[in-house]
Amino acid sequence: MAVPPPSLLQSALRFLFPFLAVTQWQPPTSPWLQSPLPVHAAAAAASSLSVRDFGAAGDGLHYDTAAIQAAIDACHASAGACRVAFPPGKYLTATVRLKSGVVLDIERGATVLGGTKIGDYPAEFDRWYVILAEGASDVGITGGGVVDGQGMRFVRKFEERKNVMVSWNETGACLGDECRPRLVGFIGCTNVRVWNVSLNQPAYWCLHIVRCVNTSIHDVSIYGDFNTPNNDGIDIEDSNHTVITRCKIDTGDDAICPKTYTGPLYNLIATDCWIRTKSSAIKLGSASWFDFGGLIFDNITIVDSHRGLGVQIRDGGNANDITFSNIKITTRYYDPSWWGRAEPIYITTCPRESWSKEGAVSNIRFINITAISENGVFLSGSKGGQLSNLRFSNVNVTYKRWTSYEGGLVDYRPGCQGLVKHSMAGIIMEHIQGLEIENVNMRWANGRSWEWDNPLDFRPSTVNGISFRDFHSDLNSR
Ligand SMILES: *[C@@H]1O[C@H](CO)[C@@H](O)[C@H](O)[C@H]1NC(C)=O
Ligand SMILES: *[C@@H]1O[C@H](CO)[C@@H](O)[C@H](O)[C@H]1NC(C)=O
Ligand SMILES: *[C@@H]1O[C@H](CO)[C@@H](O)[C@H](O)[C@H]1NC(C)=O
Ligand SMILES: *[C@@H]1O[C@H](CO)[C@@H](O)[C@H](O)[C@H]1NC(C)=O
Ligand SMILES: *[C@@H]1O[C@H](CO)[C@@H](O)[C@H](O)[C@H]1NC(C)=O
Ligand SMILES: *[C@@H]1O[C@H](CO)[C@@H](O)[C@H](O)[C@H]1NC(C)=O
Ligand SMILES: *[C@@H]1O[C@H](CO)[C@@H](O)[C@H](O)[C@H]1NC(C)=O
Repeated sequence: MAVPPPSLLQSALRFLFPFLAVTQWQPPTSPWLQSPLPVHAAAAAASSLSVRDFGAAGDGLHYDTAAIQAAIDACHASAGACRVAFPPGKYLTATVRLKSGVVLDIERGATVLGGTKIGDYPAEFDRWYVILAEGASDVGITGGGVVDGQGMRFVRKFEERKNVMVSWNETGACLGDECRPRLVGFIGCTNVRVWNVSLNQPAYWCLHIVRCVNTSIHDVSIYGDFNTPNNDGIDIEDSNHTVITRCKIDTGDDAICPKTYTGPLYNLIATDCWIRTKSSAIKLGSASWFDFGGLIFDNITIVDSHRGLGVQIRDGGNANDITFSNIKITTRYYDPSWWGRAEPIYITTCPRESWSKEGAVSNIRFINITAISENGVFLSGSKGGQLSNLRFSNVNVTYKRWTSYEGGLVDYRPGCQGLVKHSMAGIIMEHIQGLEIENVNMRWANGRSWEWDNPLDFRPSTVNGISFRDFHSDLNSR
């Protein structure tokens, strides 16, 4: 293959990962966020192997696992960057392992279909993915095609409230009702690129980034099922330097969900996304054993979701330095078996179990936010886990009821106090040290204020250092 000249390679890397030292806000206009991904030039020069040449049938009936894996292995063995091409067709497969230097090029009209039998997946349940890269570098998926987990085949009983799902727990590999395969996983990888691909109908979580460094997710659409539990969009765990741009996520469970289990998570940027979910659009946690820091969410549209922007700390990690800017939100109630109470903005930190450590949340900014929601903002720290230095600037929230689900509950789940009866308010605050409210407008629509006519609700002993500038609360208008 032709090696791209160093200058091209360098500018490609600079475009992709110029944010290594980013710990605070960079304007969304910086060129690397908007530029077409320059690595195409390098990719075009890479060698390409077709899975058809390795015997793939592409008929959606016969397993193409061996052919796909052989193509990946041959690609990996060749020197330099290499692509594995999937021409139009349906490629049924058991777990395939993506290796260093290999990018799957799933062309428009091509679908990689995940198997629906437990035997299609490795023995260890934490390796249950249709496509899995582990300990690899310079890997990715692109091409404009689809990876489909056939999630509907995992529904035992369709219910609009919440589907009842198959669980592969009878083998003892895992417990509970969350024993289903994820769709795509990158574990312990560096330089990961998932661009221009549609990830559809995962049986469980969709795109899982674990302990990775330098990940770019660009032009990715995720279509899960709106009634399927645990149909998360993108779960990012214990990873540094992640950029998500131009995503579209329409699914049942949390859409963009940073978590920490085994190490901290730093420098995540998500911009230019559209999200609908029956759970949280953006959610930090609830797995939160280590710190989160340097996160930016900008230019995001959230529609008809159960929660908008969420920080849900339960296990002792701290969340610090997070900016949410230029975001439009509508949140509404769904069945309470789903976490969420229509809060446009939701920050809670509390010990999951009585013995859990308490994590603190600090330096969180909400700038240029417009929300229409069925419930108010909920900001709740705990005794040993304060919320400090929160800032709301240019935030408009219109409160309006349009579903008939019960209001008057605050939701501390998972763990903590659970669901608690409490009158509703524009903003409920607990255990806060430092909250700046600047140019914030609250409006109540529909004259339903009898239900919640309190703009602000707090217990004085736990809330300190609140300042208001240009705060407007407009009850009963319209
Ligand atoms: C991440 O990308 C940067 C810049 O391109 C590079 O300097 C760094 O070595 C990469 N990190 C890893 C772990 O590969
Ligand atoms: C996505 O892939 C399709 C098919 O290969 C291609 O035509 C299109 O230009 C790609 N889009 C982007 C944004 O790269
Ligand atoms: C297995 O999953 C089913 C439902 O999917 C659940 O009802 C049951 O409690 C689970 N059993 C175990 C042992 O986890
Ligand atoms: C992310 O960065 C932190 C701080 O430098 C480090 O402790 C952690 O190991 C890094 N994570 C990975 C996956 O490299
Ligand atoms: C915001 O994101 C949308 C895609 O969701 C994009 O079309 C639009 O150009 C972005 N706006 C700015 C100012 O970047
Ligand atoms: C909030 O509402 C005011 C007054 O209607 C408007 O001027 C301003 O642009 C709005 N800001 C946002 C962020 O929606
Ligand atoms: C907020 O919106 C204003 C007006 O549209 C814009 O000038 C400003 O740059 C935005 N702030 C951020 C942090 O994006």
